[in-house]
Amino acid sequence: MDRPTAPVTEGAPPTVDHARVAALMASVKELPTLPAIAARVGTVARDPDSTVRDMATVIGQDQALTANLLRVVNSAYFGFIRRISSVFEAINLLGYNEVVKMAFTVAVIHEFHYESANGFDRTAFWSHAICVANASQALAEQLHCAPRDDAFTAGLLHDMGKLILDQFFPDAFGEILQLIHDEGLTSCEAEMGRLGTTHAEIGEWIARSWLLPEATIATIRHHHEPAEQRCGLPNSNDPIVDVVQFADLLCRAEGLGHSGDPARPELPDPPLAHLGLDPNSLDPLRQRLAAVAAETRVFL
Ligand SMILES: [Fe+2]
Ligand SMILES: [Fe+2]
Repeated sequence: MDRPTAPVTEGAPPTVDHARVAALMASVKELPTLPAIAARVGTVARDPDSTVRDMATVIGQDQALTANLLRVVNSAYFGFIRRISSVFEAINLLGYNEVVKMAFTVAVIHEFHYESANGFDRTAFWSHAICVANASQALAEQLHCAPRDDAFTAGLLHDMGKLILDQFFPDAFGEILQLIHDEGLTSCEAEMGRLGTTHAEIGEWIARSWLLPEATIATIRHHHEPAEQRCGLPNSNDPIVDVVQFADLLCRAEGLGHSGDPARPELPDPPLAHLGLDPNSLDPLRQRLAAVAAETRVFL
């Protein structure tokens, strides 16, 4: 497998941050790649002329994905009385978008399957990622401010830089987790102090090597930065960045999984006011997310 090449923003010079991340990543032999099947599922999903059968065929060509997907669909979470035995049937029962989301999630989780030397709690990690993905999608739909599928993808992948740190820099990441625990630092503070970069910058690097859309890249890069501190990328101030940033805060505040920093942050008051969010709409979302978090294990 080829190592992803240094990411460069089209039309803009590499930033200092890229140089720091590049120096760190130069020691990594084989970075995870966007699973080919996830890319193909995304291509078919974006094609307005594609049919349910096209999607079922693409997913069905990957035996591991099909098996994992059917395992999820047949879990108690969905509560079907009879066994679902084909992707086509799953799409008909659950809907096209739901199965596409599930296929993408299953494929990405599978790509990041490794043994953690730090005992990094990946059940909590994926619970957090899946909840943020669902919250981002729900908010993007409700506020009509970003494509729902892009919001889901950005939410799912926003913290993937931490998996890179845990997998390829286990000693440093172990110290970072300890610093967060012992000194109450944020993830970014501990990472910057120990490595001179953050999971958000590393996530940007990976997202760029995966050729994800620019708005998704900007979201991953800026998900911890207030709007006035974001700079350097063409999509730094797109609404999707605000939506995923708030979804991340909401899920952490609710204790719905975590990615190594279980402290519960304060929510902005009022939340996402500039996008017109009705704060009263958050309670039903909280309830839905709690149900999603409770069933994360079916994906692992
Ligand atoms: Fe993060
Ligand atoms: Fe997060």
